[in-house]
Amino acid sequence: MHSAPPRPAFTENAWAMLPAAIKQQADRGVFCDFCHTISIVGSPPVQFNYTSAATEALDPKRGPVMMTRSRGHRHRAHGIIASPLHDDPKICGTCHDEISPFGKKVKGTYTEWLDSPYYPATRCQDCHQRHGGMMTGGYGRGMYSMNFKGGFSPWVEGSASLIIDAPASALPDGTVDFTIRVTNERVGHQFPSGSEEERQLWIQVTAHDEAGRSWRIPVTTRPNETDPSDPNHVYWVTTNAVVAWPSPNPQVAAPVARDALPEGDRLYHSVFISPAYTGSKITYAQYYANQVYSNRLKPWEPRVENYSWTVPQDAVGSVAIRATLNYRRMPDSMADYLGIMRRPVVRVNATEAVVNLR
Ligand code: HEC
Ligand code: HEC
Ligand code: HEC
Repeated sequence: MHSAPPRPAFTENAWAMLPAAIKQQADRGVFCDFCHTISIVGSPPVQFNYTSAATEALDPKRGPVMMTRSRGHRHRAHGIIASPLHDDPKICGTCHDEISPFGKKVKGTYTEWLDSPYYPATRCQDCHQRHGGMMTGGYGRGMYSMNFKGGFSPWVEGSASLIIDAPASALPDGTVDFTIRVTNERVGHQFPSGSEEERQLWIQVTAHDEAGRSWRIPVTTRPNETDPSDPNHVYWVTTNAVVAWPSPNPQVAAPVARDALPEGDRLYHSVFISPAYTGSKITYAQYYANQVYSNRLKPWEPRVENYSWTVPQDAVGSVAIRATLNYRRMPDSMADYLGIMRRPVVRVNATEAVVNLR
């Protein structure tokens, strides 16, 4: 079992980290007191329709189960208000569902969960706020976790499974037709989620012979540029075409390479299209999105991808076909544009099938 990366000491007090002169609400991020003073969330929860009363003073804290136990008591450090809302995924949905000014859902983790088999029994809190599993431990024994583990390695690893279905043997200069089945088995919403226009999840496939040589195997597609609901559409295959606009305003930014990955692999992500300025184009600026397309993996939905590999005449011995499912929080091209560290590639899963050459 992995544990979440350690947090640097004292960073929770984000209010104290910044000099007073430049302190603004946004500089503090989503800090402890912010959530623990939320008293109301709109219905449906969307677009930050919460009321939070955090101040610089020691506010009374709102919380669910254990805090209710001390209802009526005054905690030594701060007052306590019992809040069933904190046990309700709506408190997450208020920030984790967002709509663009064009009325398009540009963040939908909460509604994706409503549409999943996890609703209603397994809540966001059950997965994201437990140490190493559901309802383990107890008060004082670490039942709650405020780490909100998510799109970084320990949680992403193993979230989806990969199965290759390939023939056991092939002729040395024949063709190997095979499929790869991908299933989102552990994520309570679509995978990837969150800032879905930036997240990348892709399958890399290679063949390796006994002489140590290797070949890339692209996914089989019939290129289609008109219908994004077709899995063959160019949106769903990796490309480095320079077509993605950090902002749709050409005065602000020039386009960058869309995926910054080897080309021809199956890619699961979302594509936001903006009509602004000079016609429709792919953008990372979510508030300009008037069309949203996605081929992300829904919980437990099996996806079957097709591959066809012409065995090179000089391939030696048996050949191992290796498939790796990778996750990255943002394309390198976008990280470079923002001037931030490139996001690591996290291996979600990998598998292999051996084909004997007769
Ligand atoms: C994103 C919102 C959010 C943030 C930020 C957050 N919490 Fe929580 N906290 C919750 C929710 C929701 C629960 C209830 C979890 C559940 O129902 O399983 C909770 C539960 C708790 C509990 C248990 C309360 C009880 O009634 O027993 C404590 C203590 C707590 N949080 C402290 C903290 C501290 C300290 C921080 C900062 C390090 C923090 N929280 C940051 C949302 C948040
Ligand atoms: C006040 C707004 C707010 C609320 C309420 C809130 N979140 Fe978040 N959450 C955020 C923001 C902002 C981020 C950071 C997004 C980013 O990384 O760009 C985030 C990130 C996350 C992440 C990803 C962490 C990572 O590093 O990948 C998880 C998981 C998460 N939230 C779960 C929850 C859950 C569960 C709840 C309800 C208990 C909740 N959030 C409530 C605003 C909120
Ligand atoms: C069945 C367990 C489960 C439930 C329920 C669940 N999540 Fe997650 N969540 C995961 C896993 C596993 C990941 C890591 C894989 C990923 O990035 O999608 C994750 C990732 C995330 C991320 C980061 C996504 C990314 O790629 O950056 C956010 C934000 C998040 N969850 C919020 C929520 C919210 C809000 C809810 C409730 C509406 C919720 N989760 C319910 C398991 C769950």
